[in-house]
Amino acid sequence: MTSTLIDNIGLLVTNDPLHGSLTAERSAAAVVIEHGLVAWVGDAADAPAADERLDADRRCVIPGFVDSHSHLVFAGDRADEFEHRMTGQAYAAGGIRRTVAATRAATDADLLANAERLVAEMRAQGTTTVEIKSGYGLSVEHEERSLAIARRLTAETTYLGAHVVPPEFADDPAGYVELVTGEMLAACAPLARWIDVFCEAGAFDEDQARAILRAGQAVGLGARMHAGQLGLSGGVRLAVELGAASVDHCTFLADADVDALAAGDTVATLLPGVEFSTRQPYPNARRLIDAGVTVAIATDCNPGSSFTSSMSFCIAVAVRDLRMSPAEALWAATAGGARSLWRDDVGVIAVGKRADLVLLDAPSYVHLAYRPGVPLVHRVITG
Ligand code: NIG
Ligand code: FE
Repeated sequence: MTSTLIDNIGLLVTNDPLHGSLTAERSAAAVVIEHGLVAWVGDAADAPAADERLDADRRCVIPGFVDSHSHLVFAGDRADEFEHRMTGQAYAAGGIRRTVAATRAATDADLLANAERLVAEMRAQGTTTVEIKSGYGLSVEHEERSLAIARRLTAETTYLGAHVVPPEFADDPAGYVELVTGEMLAACAPLARWIDVFCEAGAFDEDQARAILRAGQAVGLGARMHAGQLGLSGGVRLAVELGAASVDHCTFLADADVDALAAGDTVATLLPGVEFSTRQPYPNARRLIDAGVTVAIATDCNPGSSFTSSMSFCIAVAVRDLRMSPAEALWAATAGGARSLWRDDVGVIAVGKRADLVLLDAPSYVHLAYRPGVPLVHRVITG
C-alpha cells in the first residue's frame, strides 16, 4: 500500500480540536494518507516523506460530508406535488403512499439502480458517508428488500417500517404497529443498524413511537426519530428520553424540547432542503446552538419533501436561512452528522481516522455558502 502526501493546502479544516483549521503560516497545510487512514496532519514544511504527492494548489480541504438522513430506496417521481406546493398547496405526509405504491411495483434491479445513481450523485458532491432508510415498502417483503438494497450501498442502514400506516392497515393502525414491532422487525433487524419512526400527526403518535423504538432497541438497533416537521410533538422529548442518536427535522420546537435536547445526548438534525422544498418555515438553528444542543445538517434526500442530494446546498440554506455561521454549518454537515450516527472515524481529519477528504475549488469553506449552487467539489478522496 502506498502513502500519499497532500500538500500545498491553502486552508485545512480538520474538525479536530487539536488542530482546528490549519492555514499553516510557514508554508501550507498537509495531510498524509496511508492504508485508507489519515497518518499525519500538519504544516507542509514538517511533512514526512510519502510514496506519492498530490498538490492541492492552495485549495481548501474539508472532511467528506456525512449525510445522516436519506431515503434513497424508492421508485417514481413526485415533481407534480412540488409544482403544486410552489403554487400554494401545503405539504402533506400522504404523498408518501404514492411512493410506496411505485416502490412496491418496481423490480429489485430498478430500485438498486436508482439508489446507486443517487449515491453516486452525492459522492460527486462530496458526501463520503451516507445513511439510507427503508420506509417506502411498508410490508415485511418490501421493507426487507429495501434494506437489502440499502445494505449494498452503506453500512448505515435504517429500518423505517413506521414511516406511515400503509393503506391495507388504514382501519387497523394498532395491527400495523404489531407487525412493525414483530414479524417485520425480525426480518429487517439483521439488515439494519438503526430503527426510525415518523412521530407526527398523520403518521405515528408518541405511544406508538415509544413501542416501536423500544422494540428495535431490544434487538440491538440504535434509535432515530422524525419529529417536529409539521407541528409541535412530544416526539422530540421522547427521542431524548429513549436515548435516540438523533431526532430529525426539529422545525417546530417547544422550549421544553430545546431544554431536553440540551440536557441529553440526542443530536438535533436539521433538514433545510425540506423547508426549501415545502415552503415551510425554517427551523431555528441559533436557538438550538445557543442552548448547547449538538446540531447536524442532512439532505433528507427523498422524492417527496426534499429531492436534493447536495450537502453544499443544505449548508448554503443553513447559513442564509437557519442563521448558522459558515463554520457551524460545515461542522454540522461533517462532524455533526458523524455524531448523529455514533461514528468517530468520519467527519474529522485526524490521525487514525478514515481518509475521507474533499478538495474544494475555493480558498475557503465559506464559499460553500457564498457561492450557492456552484459545483465547488474538485476531488473526493475516500479511505
Ligand atoms: O423525512 N417526514 C417523513 N418522511 C420524509 C418525507 C417522505 C416523503 O414525502 O416521501 C421526510 O421528510
Ligand atoms: Fe426523512
